[in-house]
Amino acid sequence: MIERVRQACAFIRGRIAEVPEFAVILGSGLGAFADSLEESVVIPYEQVPNWPVSTAPGHSGRLVAGRLHDRSILVMQGRVHFYEGYSMEQVVFPARVMGELGVRRLLVTNASGGVDPSLSSGDIVILEDHVNFMGANPLRGPDIPAWNDRFPDMSRCYDEELSSLLERSATSEGLKTRRGVYFAFSGPSFETPAEIRMARTLGATVVGMSTVPEVIVANAMGMRVCAISCVANAAAGMTENALSGQEVLDEMAKTSERLIRLLSRFFKEV
Ligand code: HPA
Repeated sequence: MIERVRQACAFIRGRIAEVPEFAVILGSGLGAFADSLEESVVIPYEQVPNWPVSTAPGHSGRLVAGRLHDRSILVMQGRVHFYEGYSMEQVVFPARVMGELGVRRLLVTNASGGVDPSLSSGDIVILEDHVNFMGANPLRGPDIPAWNDRFPDMSRCYDEELSSLLERSATSEGLKTRRGVYFAFSGPSFETPAEIRMARTLGATVVGMSTVPEVIVANAMGMRVCAISCVANAAAGMTENALSGQEVLDEMAKTSERLIRLLSRFFKEV
């Protein structure tokens, strides 16, 4: 694994001028932010040695390195998911590469289902914690002391300073946000109403099928992490509607413009 990650790092280092200050992972239908970077270098995932390529709709697979408000940023436009059949090791390969490259801060975005009844489609939730209900932990496997402790602390996965800066940036842009807990199922089926009632009882604000593996690895490697979850739909059983992947993408197309404004303001203020 280390060798495979180092090969990818060596390739990326050969294409970019400096170690990026930030990495950004863009979720389903939220890839447009990458277009706002200046002086950008685009690297299709296929070109990077060992990089997993996404099969999910709404995930164009490329790395975009560039600058915004004089910050150097490496954006992942599209990610791979556990539900696509990739191993956890493959799912967190990009996060490992970011850590190994020396990137110190990671901002993650995703689309989610709203579990808290007060949420509506289009709401923006800044994550304060998560529940890993995917049935697997990305750190399971051989101990690799060069990368992380055997039993890394996860009591502050979402950095308070970055999260409150996200909040302030949203306010400056006239956008409402709230904090919440992300509950990760493996998918790819959407949850049942009973599973959503369980998640709510266990403290979920939103549910989704991504993010948690990358956040665990980034924390284990000592990166500071913050995350934005964009509510695409009310979770299963909360309305009469059946859920669909197309509805998620349609909703994210509407949210995308506000997310871009929020991220752009964030990188201006940070
Ligand atoms: N459940 C899981 N993942 C999701 C949902 C949902 O309702 N909406 C968007 N991603």
